[in-house]
Amino acid sequence: MQIVTTIEAVRAYVRAWRAAGERIALVPTMGNLHAGHGSLLTLAHQRAARVIASVFVNPIQFGPSEDFAAYPRTLAEDAELLRGARCDLLFAPPVEEIYPDGGTQATVVTVRGLDEILCAPFRPGHFAGVATVVAKLFGIVQPDLAVFGLKDYQQYMVIRRMTLDLELPVEVVGAPTVRAEDGLALSSRNRYLNTEQRARSVAIYRALRTAALALGRGAHDYAGIERGGSLALEQAGLQPEYFRVLRANDLSAPRPETDPSGLIVLTAARLGRARLIDNLRVEEV
Ligand code: PAJ
Repeated sequence: MQIVTTIEAVRAYVRAWRAAGERIALVPTMGNLHAGHGSLLTLAHQRAARVIASVFVNPIQFGPSEDFAAYPRTLAEDAELLRGARCDLLFAPPVEEIYPDGGTQATVVTVRGLDEILCAPFRPGHFAGVATVVAKLFGIVQPDLAVFGLKDYQQYMVIRRMTLDLELPVEVVGAPTVRAEDGLALSSRNRYLNTEQRARSVAIYRALRTAALALGRGAHDYAGIERGGSLALEQAGLQPEYFRVLRANDLSAPRPETDPSGLIVLTAARLGRARLIDNLRVEEV
């Protein structure tokens, strides 16, 4: 695996691989990699001859009171995991390579509608920051496909919508959520949990599962299911930001006659220093 830090170097590799007729996949990350990220690389390898991973903690997707400074930076370990996952190229640029003007750039990609719901009101500017950096990474790498985790479902929808609306020639692929044995979705932010909080955190998966199972059995009192989910999280000592039942294909509100197999339950909750998000599609349970 080669490690490069400049746009020019990435493009040189991409040019050579393209000249050889090889398909190229991109897996964007912020590092502190775990088995969830590893699964994205496995999927990428099934679809492309060459896999590029980026590790870049993107300042413009963090709010002023968020964990940008504290976000774990573990490049040496990340490189090890990526080597093990047969990554061909690691792109780990410094902030100045991506934002030469110090983080303020004139062009920002906003995905309207999707940036008004779920996590968006709790993280103003977050999805514009994500969409902007992903658009830049697509422009830098020009991959045939890019893999994103369904764990960050709203992010996945934002990126799909952006790619479609801007006619970007990149296939956006969603990868299933990798979970710990007790159901907690793997996340770099789980390291903010102490032992006691880690034990409580299982309430998230349990509440999602309870809701998805009820929906699968035909329940359509969505507001009641949402209240029940929030309450279960509160009772476990978490502070839920939202617990919603929506349609998976466009994150719009369902109607009682909506086919339950197309529904998704999404939640975000605070637990100590951590803000945890997760979701479950009814068709998964
Ligand atoms: P990061 O949080 O590092 O996540 C990188 C990718 O890994 C995302 O597509 C995310 O959905 C996926 N991922 C994280 N945990 C996962 C799990 N348990 N199972 C499956 N996939 C998982 O998401 C970002 O970085 C950034 O916002 C980024 C897209 C890189 C833009 O800066």
